[in-house]
Amino acid sequence: MDIRDKFDTSRSRRRIGEGLYSFIDSSNFDSHWDEADKEIPLLKLQQGEEFLSAALTDLKQANFVLDAGCGDGVHSQVLKKLNIQSTTYCFLDLSESALLKAQSRAPANSIFVQGDVCSLPFRDNSFDVTFSYGVIAYSDEPQKAFRELLRVTRSGGLIGFWILPKPQGFGGLVFSFLRSAYKVLNIIGLGFLLVHLMVPIWGFLPTKSGLALWNSSYKAVKEVVSVNISPKQLSVLEADEIMSWVDRTVVEVEKNDVNEKVTLWLRKI
Ligand SMILES: C[S@@+](CC[C@H](N)C(=O)[O-])C[C@H]1O[C@@H](n2cnc3c(N)ncnc32)[C@H](O)[C@@H]1O
Repeated sequence: MDIRDKFDTSRSRRRIGEGLYSFIDSSNFDSHWDEADKEIPLLKLQQGEEFLSAALTDLKQANFVLDAGCGDGVHSQVLKKLNIQSTTYCFLDLSESALLKAQSRAPANSIFVQGDVCSLPFRDNSFDVTFSYGVIAYSDEPQKAFRELLRVTRSGGLIGFWILPKPQGFGGLVFSFLRSAYKVLNIIGLGFLLVHLMVPIWGFLPTKSGLALWNSSYKAVKEVVSVNISPKQLSVLEADEIMSWVDRTVVEVEKNDVNEKVTLWLRKI
């Protein structure tokens, strides 16, 4: 079966490139990815490998895999390295710029879809493995996105999430202040100055991403700062709130590291 047979045919789509389809018009996140480093930082790739390691057995047996919110392709690159010949991959993102970058890193048997994780343009039960790394908090309705990932995964399939929960204490206050300051400065087009100002500070702190100026490039740290303070939409979710969405009559929890980050792998019943 061709992976394009998984598309929801009631939705209108355009073919915008080789293996690249669009279901929405959006330029959100384009400038973010246009400015990203050419190479994916090693640390990010290691984190990508670690995240996918919980799904390795399923990935090796899967026919169809969906990465919802693929960004510039960290997981595409990890999957390419795994070199699983029998699988077809679908990489989805809001941003065409992200998809073009992911395309250059992905396994040969892949298609790319510009779409919204809150309204996935696929039929029910389409994928064997579905995952979304650091994405649903940026969507308009994170819980809807969560349900959409479950909907498009087949019964017995595996669904993975990585979600950064609400920063607590002093870190939480600083985070809220920076996001508000960015919004105000950006009214006069100066938000980018705050991002640059924060790179040398953020880049020397032990942040949750692990990316710092001593182990990554300036551009890589800038990407982390920018993705935390500049997006129009970013819900800060409590780990408990995320876990309250998990309906145990529909899924079994296979892996749940609720530490400072929420890594969740669910098996659809
Ligand atoms: C923090 S980045 C994570 C990207 C990638 N998963 C990674 O690990 O590097 C968030 C990504 O989500 C995408 N995104 C945000 N809202 C989205 C939505 N509603 N639907 C699909 N993608 C979305 C952005 O374009 C961006 O590429």
